[in-house]
Amino acid sequence: MTPNNQTPIDRNIVEQKVRESGLEQIGTASIREIVKLVNEIEKATGERYIRMEMGVPGLQPPREAIEGEIKALQNGVASKYPMIEGIEELKHEISRFVKNFTNIDVDPRGCLPTVGSMQGAFASFLVSCRRDPEKNTTLFIDPGFPVQKQQHKVLGLKYETFDVYNYRGDKLRDKLESYLKEGNISTLLYSNPNNPSWICFTEKELRIIGELAEQYDVVVMEDLAYFGMDFRQDISRPGEPPYQPTVAHYTDNYILLISSSKSFSLAGERTGMMVIADKLFERSFPQLKNYYPNDGFGYSMVYGALYTLSAGTNHSAQYGLLEILRAVNNGDHNFIEDVREYAERSHRMKKLLQKHGFRLVYDRDEDKPLADGFYFTFSFPGMEGRELLEKLIYYGISAITLDITGSERSEGLRACVSQVGLDQMDELDHRLERFARDHLNSV
Ligand SMILES: Cc1ncc(COP(=O)(O)O)c(C=O)c1O
Repeated sequence: MTPNNQTPIDRNIVEQKVRESGLEQIGTASIREIVKLVNEIEKATGERYIRMEMGVPGLQPPREAIEGEIKALQNGVASKYPMIEGIEELKHEISRFVKNFTNIDVDPRGCLPTVGSMQGAFASFLVSCRRDPEKNTTLFIDPGFPVQKQQHKVLGLKYETFDVYNYRGDKLRDKLESYLKEGNISTLLYSNPNNPSWICFTEKELRIIGELAEQYDVVVMEDLAYFGMDFRQDISRPGEPPYQPTVAHYTDNYILLISSSKSFSLAGERTGMMVIADKLFERSFPQLKNYYPNDGFGYSMVYGALYTLSAGTNHSAQYGLLEILRAVNNGDHNFIEDVREYAERSHRMKKLLQKHGFRLVYDRDEDKPLADGFYFTFSFPGMEGRELLEKLIYYGISAITLDITGSERSEGLRACVSQVGLDQMDELDHRLERFARDHLNSV
C-alpha cells in the first residue's frame, strides 16, 4: 500500500460509491453494473478512468451507413412497417457479403436483418432449441458472452458449458462428443473471434465442430460479432482469399450471427444479420408446430420468432446497413482498415501490463500466439480476478472478471481496448506502475 493509503483515485469516494451502488461485490457485477459504478466515480472525482469494461466501439461509424440512413428517412420510410424478413436489397447484399468474405453461398431468403445480434441469438434460441423434444439443451463453448446465458434463463431453456482452454486442437473432438452423444444437445454456440478471450478457432477446430454437428444433427450458432477482426490475416478484399474462417464450410446445420456493432461501428443502430444455411432453412421439424404457424425452420424464424419479437428491424437502419455493405461488396470501402486501430491499442496495452508484472491468461491458438484485437485477458500474480478488479478500481482502471463469462480461469480479467485511446497509454503506464509498486511485494 502507498503511504497514507493514497491511491490514484480518492479512496474515500470510491468506497462511498461502491456502498451506494448496492453491489455486494464488484467482482461479480455485470458489465452494465460496472459501467454505472465507474460513471458515478468519474462524476464525483472528475478523474477519467482507463475504461476496459465494456465493448463499445470507440470509432466513427462509416459515412455510407449514415448517409444511407438519412436518405431513407428523408424518403419517408419511418412511417412504413418494414417486411419482417428484411428489405429485398439488403437481403441481397448480405448474401453477397457472405459470399465475398467467407466464400459461402447462401440464398438471400435466409439472410435476415435483426435488432442487433442480440435479437438474432434470442430468435435463434426460440426456434433451434424447440425443434426436438429430446434435444432441449444448448452447449456453450466457453468462455462466452454472458447475456446469451441470461437469454436462456429468461426463456427457461437449459444449457451446458465448458471452458475450451484445455481442449484446443484435436482434444476438442472428444470433449464435444462427450456432450453430444448424450443426445440432448440441440444447439452449439461460440463466438469467433471469441469474446472475452480473443481466441480464434483454427480450421482444424472448425472442421471438428462442423463434422460433429452433421453427425449428431446439432445446429451450430456461430457468433461472428467480430467478423474479420482477427487481424493476423487480412480478409478485406471481396471475393479473394483469405476469408473469414467459418464452420459453414463443414456443415449445413449453421446459423451465422454477424453483428454490425463492432466490424462496422454501428452498435447504436442495433442492426445485425442472421444468416441461415439454405438446407437448414428448408428443413421441417414437427415439434415447431406447437409454437409457430408451421413446422418449417426458416418459416418459424421469420413468421414465428422475429414476428413476435419486434416484427422486423428498424426500417431506416436497414438502409444504412445496405449502403455500407454495398460499398464493401463493391470494393469501395475497406471495413477492416477502419477497425485495425484496435490491434495497435491491444498490442500497446498488453505490453504495458506485462512490463508491470501482469500476465496474459488466454494466450495461444494451438501453436500460435493470440492476435491483437478487441479484447484480451490478464491476471496479476497471487490474486483472484475478483480481488484484482476490486483493487484496480482504486487505480482508475475498470474491467470485468472472467468468472462471469463461463471461464474456469478465475484469476483473469477481460480488458476491452475500444474505449482506451492511444492518448491514454502514458496514464495507463503510470497507474499500472503504481499498482505494481503497491502490490508486487505484498503477494
Ligand atoms: C460475442 C458477442 N455476441 C453478440 C454481441 C451483441 O451484438 P449486437 O450489438 O449486434 O447485438 C456482442 C456484443 O458485445 C458480443 O460480444
